[in-house]
Amino acid sequence: MGVFASTDDPGSAGHEQVVFCQDKQSGLKAIIGIYSTALGPALGGTRCYPYASEEAALADVLDLSRGMAYKNALAGLDHGGGKAVIWGDPDQVKSEALLRAYGRFVQSLGGRYYTACDVGTYVADMDVVARETRYVTGRSVEHGGAGDSSVLTAWGVFQGMRAAAEHVWGSPTLRGRRVGVAGLGKVGKHLTGHLIDDGAEVVATDVDPRALEWARVHHPGVTLVADAAALVAADIDVYAPCALGGALDDDTVPALRAKVVAGAANNQLAHPGIEKLLADRGVLYAPDYVVNAGGVIQVADEIDGFNFERARLRATRIYDTTRQILRLADDEGVPPAVAADRLAERRMADVGRLRTIHLR
Ligand SMILES: NC(=O)c1ccc[n+]([C@@H]2O[C@H](COP(=O)([O-])OP(=O)(O)OC[C@H]3O[C@@H](n4cnc5c(N)ncnc54)[C@H](O)[C@@H]3O)[C@@H](O)[C@H]2O)c1
Repeated sequence: MGVFASTDDPGSAGHEQVVFCQDKQSGLKAIIGIYSTALGPALGGTRCYPYASEEAALADVLDLSRGMAYKNALAGLDHGGGKAVIWGDPDQVKSEALLRAYGRFVQSLGGRYYTACDVGTYVADMDVVARETRYVTGRSVEHGGAGDSSVLTAWGVFQGMRAAAEHVWGSPTLRGRRVGVAGLGKVGKHLTGHLIDDGAEVVATDVDPRALEWARVHHPGVTLVADAAALVAADIDVYAPCALGGALDDDTVPALRAKVVAGAANNQLAHPGIEKLLADRGVLYAPDYVVNAGGVIQVADEIDGFNFERARLRATRIYDTTRQILRLADDEGVPPAVAADRLAERRMADVGRLRTIHLR
């Protein structure tokens, strides 16, 4: 993907701004990508990762920042899409000096981009970044932040799943359904609790024995299977990928027995075209960036002074948004992922256009 809008890809507006940041002394090499500020300041986390090359880091930040524009638009937030990457192994490169240098670059954008946590960065890191910039959220509770975002992420995934269940089986509940949860991490654990409370039967897997032990202790009724492949092939009604991206690929989709896919993992579709494969097999896919928006809803709320109940209510609306997308998909005869993109683009265009009304 290139930075500038390409005539080969008429669907892409291109990125507004991409900033390369370097501070040799601290070892900082970061790229901040701002895809769109049509709906407000760009918002998205900072990923710290040992990319194989500068090109790989750039490709990731372009992809992720575009994704955030769509996620934020559908979450109803007054935020555009942005994301940043720090190039390096988080265990080796992160230091006070590096994080503060990074914070100064974020500050230099004057509020066009708000940062937060992502893979390889944590609330404690955001507290350090915040010593240099106001434009940071996802902070620790001690510093007025909201803390762990997985609580509302799981709540939002559950709401999206309810809407998908209603679309397929006529009732917005998972009661009596078998739900396969791949990944009993921060989100998967909370999701399992919601599903059990709703009367679902949970089948789960994780590569970490501690996560499996957690399930045995806290939810002995959960059936544990060997791995994600076994879960995909199991007799389940709903598949909830809650581990890594790329869970739906050319091998998993043909093997899938579930009628619904709804989970927390980002970028579940391994490549374009998988959404069509799912639709052709009669599997309803609730787009990941729609149902997993609870986390960004939480960090966005924190910018105004965190109010859990307000954020929870907003995350509950993921049910309505998912419902609307699934209906639009049926009406327009397209997969839900395409309908979601259309709805996001419509909001960015309709609301973004209002800025052309001049105000003094
Ligand atoms: N935490 C959030 O607020 C949030 C928000 C949006 C999206 N997400 C996405 O949701 C997913 C889960 O996030 P999390 O915060 O729970 O992460 P986490 O790291 O706490 O949990 C991931 C779990 O998946 C397990 N896992 C890894 N590989 C696996 C495999 N091959 N098979 C089975 N299990 C495997 C890990 O052992 C871990 O228990 C991630 O893709 C994340 O990007 C999280």
